[in-house]
Amino acid sequence: MSRSLEHRAVIDRLPSRKQFRRDVIKGLNREQKTLPCKYLYDARGSRLFDEICEVPEYYLTRTELAIMDEEAHNIASEIGPEAVLIEYGSGSSLKTRMLLDALDDPVAYVPVDISQTHLSQSAAAIAEEYPAINVVPVCADFTKPFELPYELSHYDRRVVYFPGSTIGNLTPRRTCKLLRQIRDLTGDAGGLLVGFDLQKDRDLLEAAYDDAAGVTSEFSLNLLQRINRELSGDFELDQFRHQATYNDVAGRIEIELVSQCEQSVEVSGRSFTFDAGESILTEYSHKYTVEGLQSLAARSDFGVSRVWTDDRNWFGVAYLTADNS
Ligand code: AVI
Repeated sequence: MSRSLEHRAVIDRLPSRKQFRRDVIKGLNREQKTLPCKYLYDARGSRLFDEICEVPEYYLTRTELAIMDEEAHNIASEIGPEAVLIEYGSGSSLKTRMLLDALDDPVAYVPVDISQTHLSQSAAAIAEEYPAINVVPVCADFTKPFELPYELSHYDRRVVYFPGSTIGNLTPRRTCKLLRQIRDLTGDAGGLLVGFDLQKDRDLLEAAYDDAAGVTSEFSLNLLQRINRELSGDFELDQFRHQATYNDVAGRIEIELVSQCEQSVEVSGRSFTFDAGESILTEYSHKYTVEGLQSLAARSDFGVSRVWTDDRNWFGVAYLTADNS
């Protein structure tokens, strides 16, 4: 284990049970009932998401990996030497290793994750595999501003790596806010390497979010199960149906749990009524065009330096740098 990993304080930034209850009650009181997608990832939800990445219809993970496999060296030369690589997410993936293998003399690797457990495990694994790289895990919610450890603040080339199309799960307003925060963190000499899903045929998109084996449906319904378990809920899981619809005007998949009948559900002693066909919106997954990404970037003083895509143009990896024009 690298020296930097030994004495770090263990502080988890996961939302508390109280926060979970507040968010669920607030969301279920809205006219369009909603539940924040971050709560999909309890232990079972995270396992189900790993399974989603393997189903034949979910092309995103495989396609991004193929791009990294093909382009890691070009990406690394675009980034340049002696980068501090700051990954949003715990970085347990193969993509991280492909990038670290290709980068020219990276000075540090900083995984940033809200879960201390994930962070410690994946940081320890990376530190063991890459003894020459200073691994400095930061437990933080990367959707909010956070400080880089002081020891890294004098390195200019700070590069955020945000793979997996996770950016697509944010609302456009939050995306802009996050891009501005990243722009502040990376400064004029750094950049953002981001994986994003491209707009494509509706059938392909809807199948990717409603696979034939039903793994994505289980993943969505698991949120109701979590509410039942943690917030004394009484959702009847077979009275809700997972539905994924591509909204081509907004350019996003919208995932809903649709009530199969008129019913009333209790959560933490509060009652919520559902009409038959009424839904709970659980997730957005935005799909971009390169032009759309460029205009998002421009609103945060970023410019798109380069974009790498696969042969079918299904997925993109973009490097955004300071737009000083
Ligand atoms: C984590 N995120 C990038 C996934 C996506 O594709 O938007 C979440 C997901 N939800 C259902 N399937 C995958």
